[in-house]
Amino acid sequence: MALKITVIGTGYLGATHAAAMAELGFEVLGLDVVPEKIALLESGRTPMYEPGLEELLRRHVAGIEGSSGRLRFTTEWSEVAEFGDVHFVCVNTPQKQGEYACDMSYVDSAMESLAKHLDKPSLVVGKSTVPVGNAERLAARIAELAPAGSEVELAWNPEFLREGFAVQDTLHPDRIVVGVRSERAEKLLREVYATPVTEGTPFVVTDFPTAELVKTAANSFLATKISFINAMAEVCEPAGGDVVKLAEAIGYDERIGPKFLRAGIGFGGGCLPKDIRAFMARAGELGADQALTFLREIDSINMRRRGQMVDMARDAVGGSFLGKRVAVLGATFKPDSDDVRDSPALNVAGQIHLQGGQVTVYDPKGMDNARRLFPTLAYADSAAAAVRDAHVVLHLTEWREFRELDPVALGEAAAEPLLLDGRNALDPAVWRAAGWTFRAMGRPTA
Ligand code: UDX
Repeated sequence: MALKITVIGTGYLGATHAAAMAELGFEVLGLDVVPEKIALLESGRTPMYEPGLEELLRRHVAGIEGSSGRLRFTTEWSEVAEFGDVHFVCVNTPQKQGEYACDMSYVDSAMESLAKHLDKPSLVVGKSTVPVGNAERLAARIAELAPAGSEVELAWNPEFLREGFAVQDTLHPDRIVVGVRSERAEKLLREVYATPVTEGTPFVVTDFPTAELVKTAANSFLATKISFINAMAEVCEPAGGDVVKLAEAIGYDERIGPKFLRAGIGFGGGCLPKDIRAFMARAGELGADQALTFLREIDSINMRRRGQMVDMARDAVGGSFLGKRVAVLGATFKPDSDDVRDSPALNVAGQIHLQGGQVTVYDPKGMDNARRLFPTLAYADSAAAAVRDAHVVLHLTEWREFRELDPVALGEAAAEPLLLDGRNALDPAVWRAAGWTFRAMGRPTA
């Protein structure tokens, strides 16, 4: 009989995983403790913008015309426990307020609520990003609480999806990593992932601590690459070098590779910043803090970039933002997402606002979330409206829409044709040819 899957938590990770499992042919039951989220998902919609996800949901959510009917949702733990053979726990692990450590309370409470109802053999699979050591602790807790005792097992299966590519990354992962303690758990997970879509995908079987560490190590490496190139940009600026050329040239070395070497205002979002901080905090608890002191520097290079963008903009408008209209293109932490968590773009916009600039923000998808987080900023309905009468334009999130803007028309609408590219994604030659003064982080002024 085919395995039945449940997915606990319906954020980016959970909603995508649930829909992807249904796409792979499984009967899936998703759970969230927020009834409004469930109501939205049941109508084939999501609370966040994620390309392709709503289409995938509508293909499978029961009750939607023409759907496979394989995906349902509930708020009831007992229903989930009764339904599933394999339970994926996909809840959030945010940074604790005022601390580096990560907040495990959502994972703990999800695992406990589920375990109490598990009265038949089942596999609980943690997918959330957690500090190393938690899988071991949670395995003991589940064994203590589950009525089926040792018939219930835990496994850890970290998820590497990127926002904006969540569907693609889930259906076509680079690798599948499973931390297991028994052959039975490994067999079940192989069965879950033994689909034509994932055929040929490396399947790495390991222990609990390694599985947990793979995720934090991968994110730390990515953060390090970004801060490395941003550090190079900091040196290029006074030296007159061009960090974009530099990145291209070092990226041809296959050992380095071209990806994640785009210099600019740095990384943000709900993952990289908090993951490297939680990793440092955990290494400290393990007595290995020295091993990760470099991550403190990675974090400070990253945070410094935001201030440097503000300084660059202030210098460009003559040393003070007072009386200056500043157009900010981009509010989300990256394109193809409406997520503004720890967004470098909004941080820069907020700093300029605090220094007296009249900031107007436009973002293709992040306006509602940005308004909620920064209600004191002004918002425009289009890039052209934001740029109208601006003394300086800051390009802070590299949406495709911004690369397709008409520099000539915008130059006529702006008070000053002055553009600063905080993402190194626009073509300086095109903007300069249209009469703009174009500056970019880590690149020569002209
Ligand atoms: C990241 C990891 O990539 C993913 O594997 C993990 O599962 C979750 O965390 P995500 O947060 O969606 O994914 O974003 P990512 O694409 O990694 O970008 C993170 C930030 O780095 C963004 O703010 C982006 O603008 C910035 N970035 C990325 C750069 O500044 N330069 C680059 O070259 C690449």
